[in-house]
Amino acid sequence: MIKPKLSVKLGEWILDNPIIPASGTFGYGFEHIPFYDINVLGSFAIKGTTIKPRFGNELPRIGEISGGMINSVGLQNPGIDSLVKDIIPELKKIYHKKIVANIAAGTIKDFCEMIYKLNNEEIIGVYEINVSCPNVCNQEYDFSNDPLHLQELIKTIKPISKKPLFIKLSPLSTDIVKMAITAQNAGADGLTLINTMPGLMIDSKTAKPFMPNRIGGISGPMLKPIALRAIYLCYKVVNIPIMGCGGISNAADVLEMMYAGATAVQIGAMNLVDPAICANIIKELPQIMVKAKINKLSDIIGKAHE
Ligand SMILES: Cc1cc2nc3c(=O)[nH]c(=O)nc-3n(C[C@H](O)[C@H](O)[C@H](O)COP(=O)(O)O)c2cc1C
Repeated sequence: MIKPKLSVKLGEWILDNPIIPASGTFGYGFEHIPFYDINVLGSFAIKGTTIKPRFGNELPRIGEISGGMINSVGLQNPGIDSLVKDIIPELKKIYHKKIVANIAAGTIKDFCEMIYKLNNEEIIGVYEINVSCPNVCNQEYDFSNDPLHLQELIKTIKPISKKPLFIKLSPLSTDIVKMAITAQNAGADGLTLINTMPGLMIDSKTAKPFMPNRIGGISGPMLKPIALRAIYLCYKVVNIPIMGCGGISNAADVLEMMYAGATAVQIGAMNLVDPAICANIIKELPQIMVKAKINKLSDIIGKAHE
C-alpha cells in the first residue's frame, strides 16, 4: 500500500494534515513547544481574542465531570492590540504555517474593528468567528441562535475581511442546520462545528454552583455524539468546508468526524489531559488509515452519507 496522504484542503488552504488544536486549549502554542514541534500540526486556533483585554471569570473556572470537563474561563486574553504587537511577532519566530484566528465580540462594530487590525497579518489563514461562547454575557444580539442577526453580522464583516470566514456555531442553537445555511448564504467560507455545550456543576458539599460564574461549557469525549450530529446534518445542506470539533481523543474519532462531513478537525479539552495528544494523533493516523484501507484522508470526507 502507498504511504497514506494526510493532507486536506480547507477551501483554498492546503493543510499537511487535518489536526488543529481548538481555541482556548492551546494558548498561542508557546507552552506546547517542550512537548513537540508544533509545526507538525495542520494548523492551530489561537485563544479567542476580544477588542479589549479580559481577565476572565472568577476561579474556579474549570471542573471535571464524567466524560469531560466544564469551563467558564470567560475569554481571558490580552486583547487585539497586544495580539498584534506582542504575540504575533513572537509566534512568527516559532510557527511557520498559518493559524486560525479566533475572535469574539458582543457587537458587530467590535468584530469589524478586530478584522481591520488583523487583515494584514500573513500568519492568519482564516478567521474563526466565535458567536457561541457560553461564558460571556453582554452580547448585542444572540448571533448563534438568531438567523437575522447572524446574517447581518456576516454580511457586514465579509466585505471588509481579507481572510476566509469560518463561523463557529453553538450546539445550543435551536436549529443548527438553519444557522449553518444562514451563514453560508450570508457569505461564510466555512463553519466550525461545534463550541462547548452549556452546562452547570453543583457542589454537593456546599449545595451551590461549583463555579462563581455558575454556567460553563461542556467539552471532552461526552461532546462527540453532539458534534457528530451537528456535522452530519449540516454537511448535508451546505457546500462550504466544516472544521469538526467536540470530543475528539484519538485517531478513530478523527475518522468518524471526517466520515460525518468534516474536512479538518479541532481538538480541545484533550490538550489539557495530554499536551502531546495532537502530535500523537498525527502519528497514529497513517496506521489507522492503512488498517481501514484509506489512501487519502480527503477521500473519506462525508463518506457516512453515501
Ligand atoms: C478551557 C477552554 C477554553 C476555551 N476557550 C475558547 C475560546 O476562547 N474560543 C472558542 O471559540 N472556543 C473556546 N473553547 C471551546 C473549544 O475551542 C472547543 O470548541 C470545545 O472545547 C469542544 O471541543 P473539545 O470537546 O475537543 O474540547 C474553549 C474550551 C476549553 C476547554
